[in-house]
Amino acid sequence: MAKKIIITIDGWSSCGKSTLAKQLAKELGYVYVDSGAMYRAITLYFLRNHVDWTDKKEVHNALESINLEFVFNPQRQASEIFLNGENVEFLIRDLVIAEKVSDVAAIREVRAFAVAQQQKMGAKKGIVMDGRDIGTVVFPKAELKIFMNADNAVRVERRFRELYEKNPNVTIEEVKNNLEMRDYIDSHREVSPLRKADDALELDNTNLTHEQQLHKALDWVNSRLHKA
Ligand code: DC
Repeated sequence: MAKKIIITIDGWSSCGKSTLAKQLAKELGYVYVDSGAMYRAITLYFLRNHVDWTDKKEVHNALESINLEFVFNPQRQASEIFLNGENVEFLIRDLVIAEKVSDVAAIREVRAFAVAQQQKMGAKKGIVMDGRDIGTVVFPKAELKIFMNADNAVRVERRFRELYEKNPNVTIEEVKNNLEMRDYIDSHREVSPLRKADDALELDNTNLTHEQQLHKALDWVNSRLHKA
């Protein structure tokens, strides 16, 4: 049987992690898991149910009522996240969620809840997972770790274009502030802050096309597949 590996992709918000992760998963026939979608879906649940996330007991009880599942949608050729049986893939991309998700993702119990499920998903390998702590905490022994980056202006522009398609009222300023705030909280939190794993390879895609970034990453994959 062909050897399968675990590929982790971490990095700052909106630097193209999910695009590369999807490209790699498609190319290799691997499963793609968007770990950020889990934190976003938990945030949606907390907001809808008025959970006071500064209260440990409330967080604990809320997490007991949350079931997350990824279901592949053949029409979009992509996995979509379900929160307690409801497809929330599109709802969780809203700026309202983006404004709160970094606070929710900084909670120790929330992270333990998400990480345990992420580790189960990777038990059989053949997986590409993107996020902030995948190479450092979720799969510290992954065969290939990629840390992505891109210029700030490029990241803001990319996220703005994505959000503008759904909501033409969104402004560049709002998007810029949100990215800066999330990057700060994600990299300064006490539990599993965003950082490059010592053995991660850096990929700055500011000036790379999608094809070029895929090429580069596939070279790394091939070198890992031929290693063991
Ligand atoms: O990748 P994203 O922008 O959809 O992630 C949303 C938020 O979730 C991000 O601001 C930080 C948090 N996150 C995290 O803390 N750890 C992960 N592995 C993935 C996301």
